[in-house]
Amino acid sequence: MKGIQFDRIGGPEVMYYTDIPMPELRPGTVRVRNHAIAVNFGDLFFTRNEYLVKPRLPDTPGMEAAGVIDAVAPDVTNLKPGTRVAYIGMGSYAEYTLIRAGRIMILPDYLSFEEGAAFPIAVLTAWHTIHTCHHLTPGQTVIVHSAAGGVGIAAVQIAKAGGARVFGTVSSDGKQQLVRDFGADEVINYETQDFAEAAMRLTEGRGVDLILDAVGKPTLEKGLACLAPFGHLVLYGRAGGLPDRLDPMRLFSKSLKVSGFAVPMVYSMREIHQRGVDDVFRLSREGKLKIPIGRKFPLAEAAGAHRYMLSRQSTGKLLLMP
Ligand SMILES: NC(=O)c1ccc[n+]([C@@H]2O[C@H](COP(=O)([O-])OP(=O)(O)OC[C@H]3O[C@@H](n4cnc5c(N)ncnc54)[C@H](OP(=O)(O)O)[C@@H]3O)[C@@H](O)[C@H]2O)c1
Repeated sequence: MKGIQFDRIGGPEVMYYTDIPMPELRPGTVRVRNHAIAVNFGDLFFTRNEYLVKPRLPDTPGMEAAGVIDAVAPDVTNLKPGTRVAYIGMGSYAEYTLIRAGRIMILPDYLSFEEGAAFPIAVLTAWHTIHTCHHLTPGQTVIVHSAAGGVGIAAVQIAKAGGARVFGTVSSDGKQQLVRDFGADEVINYETQDFAEAAMRLTEGRGVDLILDAVGKPTLEKGLACLAPFGHLVLYGRAGGLPDRLDPMRLFSKSLKVSGFAVPMVYSMREIHQRGVDDVFRLSREGKLKIPIGRKFPLAEAAGAHRYMLSRQSTGKLLLMP
């Protein structure tokens, strides 16, 4: 089969499209023929050996996709070939991927393969930062950084559906309308404006209750300055670089909270994971959650997709098509 491989650590340039062996079934697994594969910012970290999961060279990047089950190990009794599925699992930049049965989500009829591939990581990350790390209540004000991106655009919609007032931040004016179209009440260009000052102005000096921050260095410190009393900042990424060390005394005067989040941890926590899956499918069914596909690339052009994501022009989800 065809797929993407890399045999040295580095950026987009280390990936190449090649013949790789068809994965053989092992106990507890199913093999999926991928129809649409999502690109995640974490894939960029993976080839650079900076992700939570470490590559074993030569390795294949990718952490989610949607497709059809092609084969099922004899000990897996609850899944069968021909079923439309989405999954979260490593090695998805290929025509076929071997996945543990527990990582499979049956794709509802109303979701296409493209929507299914774009869905799991981005929406579950957004959902858990809002409803598991934080416990959003209607009327709270939320800042979503990098709001036009995959996780960001999901977070805007999930926070709105939870009754929040939402401020999205983006790095260019061209991304503003998209974030507005997906429900943000205010959109701030954080390259040309001080987002903390804007948030304080928009909340008449009170500050915001929650900040979802996957940018890191350029945004974390400033974020603390525009949190309301008892406000909460969830740090779940570092696209803009590792934040400076945080002095805990900064949290005292307004009783602030800073927490972290990594979605892979949730997959093994069945009850919490299922709560997220059920609710994001409900929101999607009710038309309250849609993930726009910013651009599609042929699988062979994975390196181009990574370069595009690094360029900060990308919006919504990027897909690779095998
Ligand atoms: N903790 C977890 O479990 C988890 C899971 C999924 C994703 N994440 C994190 O969530 C973030 C979003 O992931 P995604 O896959 O949906 O990607 P994405 O948001 O589609 O792309 C990343 C965005 O980060 C912003 N950014 C800020 N500084 C940047 C820089 N120096 N270089 C490149 N981009 C920069 C850009 O938006 P602007 O140009 O508008 O600023 C860019 O569009 C990433 O940081 C990712 O690592 C974390």
